[in-house]
Amino acid sequence: MIRRLTAILISGSGSNMVALVRDMADTAHPSVPCLVLSNRPDAGGLARARELGIPTACIDHRAFPDDRAAFEAALMEALEESGADLVCLAGFMRVLTQGFTAAWSGRMLNIHPSILPLFPGLDTHARALAAGMAVHGATVHEVTADLDAGPILGQAVIPVLDGDTPASLAARLLPLEHRLYPAVLRRFAVDNRTPLALFP
Ligand code: GRF
Repeated sequence: MIRRLTAILISGSGSNMVALVRDMADTAHPSVPCLVLSNRPDAGGLARARELGIPTACIDHRAFPDDRAAFEAALMEALEESGADLVCLAGFMRVLTQGFTAAWSGRMLNIHPSILPLFPGLDTHARALAAGMAVHGATVHEVTADLDAGPILGQAVIPVLDGDTPASLAARLLPLEHRLYPAVLRRFAVDNRTPLALFP
């Protein structure tokens, strides 16, 4: 079996990246990690990736003020050098332009902490609570030019409980994200795009 080289883009703690990398430790997995790339030098996930033995790189977006094209060109170069065939965004907090998403069309995934198409963008947990939702969740989707709007590949759902706060919702959702994203990647890497439903 030829395993597909997969790069993971992060901006923060990288807990979803760790879940993906740990799952890919299985030699029967159709993907293998080739690079963990951060846009923030202080991202905690960089050290975690190094501990896991994965090559890392940092392309600091602040080195490209007002020049998104140059930032994305640097990202592209690092990805190409790594040999990546698939890209997983995992808490990567930069919006990507249409040129970049088109270059990775059908080969780039994202995890978003809401039941899309509800609550694209930021502050999803607070917005789900403010809307009076009885359930909340996370979505893995293909990345297209439209933010948080590509084809849905899998969703995990949790109940909203009395007294929940944005922090408590996020904490209860994250372990499910860590199951959802690896499960979807395993399927996507063999071209299975049937949406997966995951419950606690
Ligand atoms: C997760 O909630 C993910 O859904 C969102 O950003 C967060 C990243 O957390 N896109 P981590 O860096 O994977 O721990």
